[in-house]
Amino acid sequence: MTATTLDRVDGFGRLVSDTPTTRLDITINDIPRTLRLKLDGHNIGGSIKARTAYGLVRDLAQRGRLEPDTEIVESTSGNLGIALALLGKYLGVRVTTVVDPLITDGALRRLRELGARVEMVHERDNNGGYLLSRLGRVRQLLDSDPRRVWTDQYNNPANPRIHEMTTGPEMRERGALDLDAVFLAISTGGTLAGVSADMKQASPSTAVVAVDIDGSIAYRGTAAPRRVSGIGASRRSTFLDDWMIDDFRSVTLAEMAASCRAMLEEHGLYLGASSGAVLAACLRYLADTPDARDVCCLCPDLGEKYASTIYNTAWLRSAGCSEEALSNHWLPVRASG
Ligand SMILES: Cc1ncc(COP(=O)(O)O)c(C=O)c1O
Repeated sequence: MTATTLDRVDGFGRLVSDTPTTRLDITINDIPRTLRLKLDGHNIGGSIKARTAYGLVRDLAQRGRLEPDTEIVESTSGNLGIALALLGKYLGVRVTTVVDPLITDGALRRLRELGARVEMVHERDNNGGYLLSRLGRVRQLLDSDPRRVWTDQYNNPANPRIHEMTTGPEMRERGALDLDAVFLAISTGGTLAGVSADMKQASPSTAVVAVDIDGSIAYRGTAAPRRVSGIGASRRSTFLDDWMIDDFRSVTLAEMAASCRAMLEEHGLYLGASSGAVLAACLRYLADTPDARDVCCLCPDLGEKYASTIYNTAWLRSAGCSEEALSNHWLPVRASG
């Protein structure tokens, strides 16, 4: 590694932004609450994974694993691949992404536009997901060419570390001084592990709530096929530990979709599927936790990529979500500002 390589990576790091937080004043069970939404979909590349990509590739550079002929390989549900492809373009380094059929059309198109090589796996693994199939393909790619390196978002401590250094402090500093709770979607668990490490140290009274989708076993739960990418995993996270998580909520596809649609229709916020899950879990938590007055939801990406899935009535119906199921799930909240 040369100092120049690390400087180049840090040049990208300076583009990874302190994302906006918007605030909704809502009333649940007659109690006024402040709901803050940190919109990481406004980050470079359209998701929070800009941070993760920067942290992981900086780690490669520091370990001397980033040379001009290096090819970065990673398994991704879409967002990390897009962020790595952008960073690869910035550095002039090749990127290969291993994806699965749950990837949204928009994410797939973006990966190709950014010049990433895309390897699609088609076999579901024994837990009904695709993660283990993707990891098998990553292993084959690494074994067949020594110039390939794996950023390994699933095990590399650089993943949680970047969220401990940036995402957690931003949630605290742009929100209330004492947030009652923060809500985070889990997949690798890197975001939550990093944010929780920061919260436990700097704001120990803030409850850290992990949010997952039914069918995922990232933290708990029973494995089953899932229809949406980004949130969830078909194996346990290596980063998550009980001390980091004060509450755990798993949501259904209908709850997730209902929240996304309601946020668009009632508040003009076009949020990604995981953000819908986080909101659904947050509203349930607020309904059964009267003391929680000021909370923050981390919203990993925006809605565009999900136009043909979570925002599409025909797709939702094919996934078993009727209009009735959707309207039953949205907890009505009254915005007062
Ligand atoms: C859409 C989406 N959902 C959920 C997450 C949480 O992922 P992880 O647990 O891998 O940090 C992310 C990534 O940051 C994401 O982009």
